[in-house]
Amino acid sequence: MKKALVSGLTGQDGSYLSELLLEKGYQVYGIDRRVAIEDAKQRYSRIYHILDKIKLYSGDIQNYARVFEITNEIKPDECYHLAAMSFVATSFEDEFTVLRTNIEGTVNILNILRKIAPDCKYYFAGSSEMFGKVLETPQDENTPLNPRSPYGISKCAGFQFTRLYREAYNMFCCNGILFNHGSERRGGEFVTRKIAKGVAEIKYGLRKKIKLGNLEAKRDWGHASDYVRGMHLMLQQPKPDDYVLATGETHTVEEFVELSFEFAGIKNWRDYVEIDKDLFRPAEVNLLLGDASKARRVLGWEPKISFKELVERMVKSEINILDLGK
Ligand code: GDD
Repeated sequence: MKKALVSGLTGQDGSYLSELLLEKGYQVYGIDRRVAIEDAKQRYSRIYHILDKIKLYSGDIQNYARVFEITNEIKPDECYHLAAMSFVATSFEDEFTVLRTNIEGTVNILNILRKIAPDCKYYFAGSSEMFGKVLETPQDENTPLNPRSPYGISKCAGFQFTRLYREAYNMFCCNGILFNHGSERRGGEFVTRKIAKGVAEIKYGLRKKIKLGNLEAKRDWGHASDYVRGMHLMLQQPKPDDYVLATGETHTVEEFVELSFEFAGIKNWRDYVEIDKDLFRPAEVNLLLGDASKARRVLGWEPKISFKELVERMVKSEINILDLGK
């Protein structure tokens, strides 16, 4: 039985990846940062259905000694490093936490693997946010990095460290460069979930408006369940490498809003959306559009869920949640 260690297992991607790994017969271990207040059902909402099949170790990736202990006990065959402070807007407010969690946390894991599990295959969750103010369109593995946020900068550092460990220590280290991906399990602060939830609440008369920032930004949005298949495939190749995962389509935030209202059967969406200047970022990434030809060619990876289906699923899921609560 192969053993996989997943940091960030309780998040959106971690939950889909764990399901996939369990299906494939892996033993799945997670590093779980303790958070006060939340009850188990809420905290583990995304993985509640598989909690008895996985093993969670309490720990924080910023704590070298603890991650060392966990890794030493498991001796994983594969490590998927997904844990991060992943919300771009907050990274402008609190640069220091981003640096510690996203850079120091990543170097901790890499260094520990090098010392006690050098044959472990390693995946780093790189991001299209690293392309920032894009220098070419579409973006692929050769597009220069040009980040526009503390988060983007931190992901560039993690990306470069991952490459460095591959080249300097000959370790099996891969970077995924993942473009935006949402799902029914998306965190509430990201724009797709915020819109889907807001639209459902408007439908049920629970709120009158959704406050949003820049509607003109363009993103290449896919479904997270497709993207975790790509992560796993990267670690099954004969050689480690870096891969873009993207749909190859770009849509504005406005299109996401418009379609969400359409799926909820609400006309005249503009009547329900208020633009809030405070939600604009100090520096914006205006356009992301990925070219995943390499992943298609080498990994045989392809996204199955379209933009339209993603929006439909997210809106319907929020409507269902409210239906069940009635
Ligand atoms: N969150 C949010 N809230 N974003 C808004 C809002 C709002 O009210 N209004 C407009 N936006 C715009 C943002 O300015 C941005 O251009 C776009 O919606 C998407 O924002 P997010 O959903 O927060 O995602 P992101 O693109 O910044 O980052 C996500 O994708 C990256 C990959 O490119 C995150 O998942 C990152 O962790 C990931 O690496």
